[in-house]
Amino acid sequence: MSAPTLVAHGIRRLGVLGAGQMGMGIAMVSAVRAKVPVLIYDRSPEQVKKGLSLMDKLLDKDVNKGRLTTEQAKEAKERVEVVGAEAALKGLRDVDMVVEAVSENLQLKQAIFASLAAELRPDAILATNTSSISITKIAASAIPEGLKASSEEGKKAAARVVGLHFFNPVPVMKLVELISALQTSQETLDRARSFAVACGKEVTVSKDVPGFVSNALLMPFLNEAIMHLEKGIATRDDIDTTLKLGMNHPMGPLQLADFIGLDTCLAIQNTLYQGTGDSKYRPAVLLERMVDAGWLGKKSGKGFYDYN
Ligand code: 3HC
Repeated sequence: MSAPTLVAHGIRRLGVLGAGQMGMGIAMVSAVRAKVPVLIYDRSPEQVKKGLSLMDKLLDKDVNKGRLTTEQAKEAKERVEVVGAEAALKGLRDVDMVVEAVSENLQLKQAIFASLAAELRPDAILATNTSSISITKIAASAIPEGLKASSEEGKKAAARVVGLHFFNPVPVMKLVELISALQTSQETLDRARSFAVACGKEVTVSKDVPGFVSNALLMPFLNEAIMHLEKGIATRDDIDTTLKLGMNHPMGPLQLADFIGLDTCLAIQNTLYQGTGDSKYRPAVLLERMVDAGWLGKKSGKGFYDYN
């Protein structure tokens, strides 16, 4: 099949909401590869500090490896502007696209999309990096209160919402999954695809089903590995080594679950379970308990492995 013709993405300025590992990675590839100025906001200044210092380290490494000149790395750093809440609201009025990369929580995303819809220019794209939540549901929340979803204005408001699903670590992973809500316009899809390509990514398309293609296949695999550990079928190391050496996976499933974040894995698994009603997606009790304990994987210093 021939690749779709790329349209101009027209993104001259990007907003990113959430400076976690995904948000910061998206900001970085947008600044380095697409060469677009990025405004990034996170309600936790600590998170932003951590993200910026990782980005600086990665850019310095790119310079040391000869992939970027010192000047290019400096320009990329200068393209990323961190803003506080008030400046974010003002600055976002001027962006051509926002990528939301906050935690995997429907209510939070709906509240964000409702306020973005009110603040952003009508031609700006509202993209979500959700891992599993329905893009159609998120798009519905971008319709201003008082407008009917079936009215021309209501349809237009929701038509600019799209799923743009990056993978962790964003600077390394080559894929972006593109997901259309029922309401998404072809123009929004085409521009979002072009932007992902400008960020150096290959794009695959999934329907708006729980977990899309990627996580509908990955999460049950990780969950099953956790159940194997729970049942004592094999040790942590034997489970991970089996998949690493037997199947050439870069990481074993328990290490990968830690890397993604166990709270994120649980949230996605719950979306699959609730969204399909199929008991095969029931989260492993051990996964729930690890999250209860605050053992969220690499980011918290403890998961199936210790990181301190
Ligand atoms: N951020 C940016 N770059 C990173 C990184 C990070 N967090 N971690 C590693 N890298 C870079 C390194 O700097 C190195 O770059 P270089 O080649 O330019 O020097 C390169 O990745 C390789 O790193 P290492 O040599 O240290 O380690 P590995 O060879 O073990 O690779 C890995 C690390 C790329 C993370 C590899 O283990 C891997 O591919 N793991 C699987 C990752 C994966 O499956 N991601 C998808 C998760 S699912 C998802 O994100 C969807 C979501 O919805 C849940």
